[in-house]
Amino acid sequence: MDELTPPGDGGSGGDSGVAYFVDRQPQVADFEHAVIAGLRAARKEIPAKFFYDEEGSHIFNRICGTEEYYVTRTEIGLLSDRRDDIRRLAGPGAVVIEYGCGSAAKINLLLDALEDPAEYAAIDISPEHLRFVVEDISARHPGLRVGGICADFTGGFELPSEVAGGGAKLGFFPGSTIGNQTPEEAGAFLGRVRENVGDDGALLIGVDLKKDAGRLNRAYNDEAGHTADFNLNLLRRIERELDSEVNVDGFEHHAFYNEGEGRIEMHLRAKSAQRIRIGGETFRFSEGETIHTENSYKYTVGEFARLAARAGFAVGAAWTDADDLFSIHFLKAA
Ligand code: AVJ
Repeated sequence: MDELTPPGDGGSGGDSGVAYFVDRQPQVADFEHAVIAGLRAARKEIPAKFFYDEEGSHIFNRICGTEEYYVTRTEIGLLSDRRDDIRRLAGPGAVVIEYGCGSAAKINLLLDALEDPAEYAAIDISPEHLRFVVEDISARHPGLRVGGICADFTGGFELPSEVAGGGAKLGFFPGSTIGNQTPEEAGAFLGRVRENVGDDGALLIGVDLKKDAGRLNRAYNDEAGHTADFNLNLLRRIERELDSEVNVDGFEHHAFYNEGEGRIEMHLRAKSAQRIRIGGETFRFSEGETIHTENSYKYTVGEFARLAARAGFAVGAAWTDADDLFSIHFLKAA
């Protein structure tokens, strides 16, 4: 059941211009349960979404600023270069729906590019972060209807009635976050977005491209070690939050491009025989054994267009940078 809390009722203080804040009360992802289940598996794994505690989110921002991680700056450059095309394709009065609110720089670029956007609705699983973002966007874009929906959009998801309609709906899913899902899961997710935006809707989505393995390997093994720190923070988080014993120094960052699967894999690899105790349970690692912590799938423009087509979208435009590192697709409901 939805809970509607008065906008601004989050200690933000001052006059809030936020039109609505719908709390779908997503079940707080159970970190302990997921870690135990993942470590019991024959091939140990922990879902990538658990990287993003407060510390992990900070480290991720550091990754985005490295020379090797071309993703963030290339996507921002593309959004900026293509603002006129985006404006034309989206048309006036768009209702922008962002799936997971990340970078303020990207959403501000999009809202500034559009012709009289009617509304910005942000969906995010973290209520604190969501409230901060919608307050910020609302302050920066006076006159724009801004709302927040606290929900887990990775499962089935229906837009609440507060999303007012007006012009056509435009989904926004930057960052190549879709790469964390397998192509099958990504296809199912796109199908649900297609239902959300309706028959005259569209989706603007950032997708990282297949490229030479050296370049990809460098992007996930930066010299300064921020990606390693990001990966190892998962073990520190287990230490911080769970009743556990972990020898964090006994593990190392291991990331590589798996060419056959078309994905970067990140693992935490035991440097010698290790054990992790959580609650009453002991998980043993032989030397070299890993915990698989992330997949980051890469696509060609054609591969992604075919995936989108199966989900009911047609490619309105697909833009890449001069070095073919990254793509942005403007998908229209087919
Ligand atoms: C946020 C999922 C797009 O896969 O490139 C960056 C996460 N992991 N460096 C990615 C990440 C290691 C990132 N995504």
